[in-house]
Amino acid sequence: MSTPALQEATSKPLDSAWVRAQFPSLKLQVNGQAAAFLDGPAGTQVPRQVMEAIQNYFLTANANTCGAFATSRGNDATIAAARGAMADFFHCDKDEVVFGQNMTTITFALARAIGRELKAGDEIVVTTLDHDANVAPWRALEEKGVVIRQVDIREADCTLDLDDLKRKITSKTKLVAVGYASNAVGTINPVAEITKLAHDAGAMMFIDAVHYAPHGAIDVRALDCDFLVCSPYKFFGPHMGTLYGKRERLLQFKPYKVRPAPDALPDRWETGTQVQELIAGIGAAVDYLAELGRRQDASAKDRRSALLAAYRATRQHETTLLGRMIEGLLAIPKLRLFGISDPKRFHERCSTISIRIGDHNPTEIAKFLGDRGIFTWDGNYYALNLSERLGVEQKGGFLRIGLVHYNTAEEVDRLLVALREFASR
Ligand SMILES: Cc1ncc(COP(=O)(O)O)c(C=O)c1O
Repeated sequence: MSTPALQEATSKPLDSAWVRAQFPSLKLQVNGQAAAFLDGPAGTQVPRQVMEAIQNYFLTANANTCGAFATSRGNDATIAAARGAMADFFHCDKDEVVFGQNMTTITFALARAIGRELKAGDEIVVTTLDHDANVAPWRALEEKGVVIRQVDIREADCTLDLDDLKRKITSKTKLVAVGYASNAVGTINPVAEITKLAHDAGAMMFIDAVHYAPHGAIDVRALDCDFLVCSPYKFFGPHMGTLYGKRERLLQFKPYKVRPAPDALPDRWETGTQVQELIAGIGAAVDYLAELGRRQDASAKDRRSALLAAYRATRQHETTLLGRMIEGLLAIPKLRLFGISDPKRFHERCSTISIRIGDHNPTEIAKFLGDRGIFTWDGNYYALNLSERLGVEQKGGFLRIGLVHYNTAEEVDRLLVALREFASR
């Protein structure tokens, strides 16, 4: 099968006014100008439904788990509901959903547990395109003699070099760790195909979907991956991480845990007391997306169908903004855009763009924009392998512009005007 992201679908236009009305922080002003949040890849804004769920948790269900009284039962019910929401989000069973502090912490813990079963000479494949949180936890296993093989990119379009990937997966490969989408240049990787390559070689597949999650629907059943991680704070929820693990894999590996804690799934992977109020917020973030989906498509009855409808509308909206943005950027003198720019290939990328302008340090550009109420990011955003490979690490990295479903054409135009002004100084 092909990676679901690559199947474009049409939807009625996103109800942008309704979307923006759900996000109170979008009304923020900076120096007398409306804030333009183009910093989504580092963390998105939060709809009021998420804020209310967190407040409601403290008002009605603030207790630890499994107690014999009302607030504790309320807490258990809240966590179970959020787990059910994430199961619909991932398209898996509830006991295959694990909550954790953030993607990085979850991945280090999982890598350590998997590492217990590995021996010197076993191999793990990572990539040059990935965030370091999908590299360093696996590289940490080099201490045990595990060999890390790193897949290169095709520099011209910042896509993964699939020929190199095929060469790097061998009979010794135990796990392939690949991102669903690049948090730096927006490339969407063909993760379904890569999962098949991994499985054909007898290796497990670990997908970092942190960057992909606000842009496209995830279907772990269709992908057939062994593990997939994403962080709700990148898809309109609170600052936490979540893991999907195939049931047999979550049972196969032994997490580091305290003895009295349950050994059943998923508890064995959730060490200590969780940030339960934020788990309440995760459930609300998924329900917000489902509510959006039902508004876009009234025939979407169950939550999973509603989520798919929300992502169809999101994808269409973001792709329109992406076209407008890239066309405007390419007309700016001395601007270098990294990654795919041809609209015919937009199905291979999401709406996250990295640029440089001449020799300007990206921090200088981000500050210029920030003073005008336009929030972008500068540096390497922890995609360290990539910024080194592209030769920009010593020069301040890139400037990143991130578009998500609450952004607008007016914000794109404001950014383009400001960048033109910056470039012509
Ligand atoms: C692609 C990608 N992977 C992993 C991470 C790390 O996520 P977390 O902050 O949840 O540890 C990030 C954060 O920016 C990211 O963009």
